[in-house]
Amino acid sequence: MKEELEKIREECQTFLALAKTGPEISDIRVRVLGRKGILTQLLKQLGTLPEDERKEIGQRANKIKEDLEARVEECLRRIQEQERAEALEREKIDVTLPGRRMILGRKHPLTQTLDEIIHIFSRLGFEVVEGPEVELDYYNFEALNIPKGHPAREMQATFFISEDVVLRTHTSPVQVRTMEKKRPPIRVICPGAVYRCDSDPTHSPMFHQVEGLLVDRGITFSDLKGVLSVFVHQMFGRGTQLRFRPSFFPFTEPSAEIDIECFICGGKGCGVCSNTGWLEILGSGMVDPAVYRFVGYDPEEVTGFAFGMGIERIAMLKYGINDIRLFFTNDLRFLKQF
Ligand code: PHE
Repeated sequence: MKEELEKIREECQTFLALAKTGPEISDIRVRVLGRKGILTQLLKQLGTLPEDERKEIGQRANKIKEDLEARVEECLRRIQEQERAEALEREKIDVTLPGRRMILGRKHPLTQTLDEIIHIFSRLGFEVVEGPEVELDYYNFEALNIPKGHPAREMQATFFISEDVVLRTHTSPVQVRTMEKKRPPIRVICPGAVYRCDSDPTHSPMFHQVEGLLVDRGITFSDLKGVLSVFVHQMFGRGTQLRFRPSFFPFTEPSAEIDIECFICGGKGCGVCSNTGWLEILGSGMVDPAVYRFVGYDPEEVTGFAFGMGIERIAMLKYGINDIRLFFTNDLRFLKQF
């Protein structure tokens, strides 16, 4: 029995020395010191020994048991410490490394320009309304006093989807749709995408407009001048010179285009203003009585004015951009400047 005890002690110590993980050590503990472990089994046989050997071997066996238990504990502690040290090493954070910069997006220059336009008109009491980009010929032309075959259709290079359906060439059809739904007073602006078959550095087949409409009793041309002058001064600066130049639109009478003094040459004449000293920024006019008849308003009772401008054009003038296509190619080097 003595030899057997020695063998168990030696084997157990060897295994413990080889064990590398907590579970391996627990396993050895169960196999040797557990209830069915080999040492426990051996201790149970002590009773079969003669009286004189029993005491001596019993003491020795208990000593071995205590030693091995202490050894197991020590091994477990060692492994725990080692694992902890490894984890600390693995999870080390270098607080001196430079941080990763978060790249923030920003609003597209056209959105910024539109936001600004909406802001100015909403403080003047205008409300934003929208309408469809695929539009009936009736709303895009007919109800705006541009009958089929009228030469005024010529200046709106139209994309036709069918004989009666077009991609809207301006946001003016939203005027008609609004007046069909509501009685005066009306004070709306209509922003949105429009389409014309045209492409060069200052024209894009898809671009954006903001159209405005104000209808009520007793509205006159001086209201038009007042509202649009406020707009120009807020958009381009207080001192901006502007002029109202007679023009023609089938849906307004009288009509005027608004020019601002060229801020490149200060009015002396340059390449940007084609040597005129003026830059055209919007079309406007008093709503033609013919349009009121299409929506069932009485032109004897109400009057009003409308205006329309290209958002790209306003942004190009405001920021000095010379090619409209820059807005749509989305080159970050361009977009980051706004
Ligand atoms: N709809 C016109 C255009 O796109 C602009 C405009 C609107 C002119 C309202 C006058 C009044 O050409």
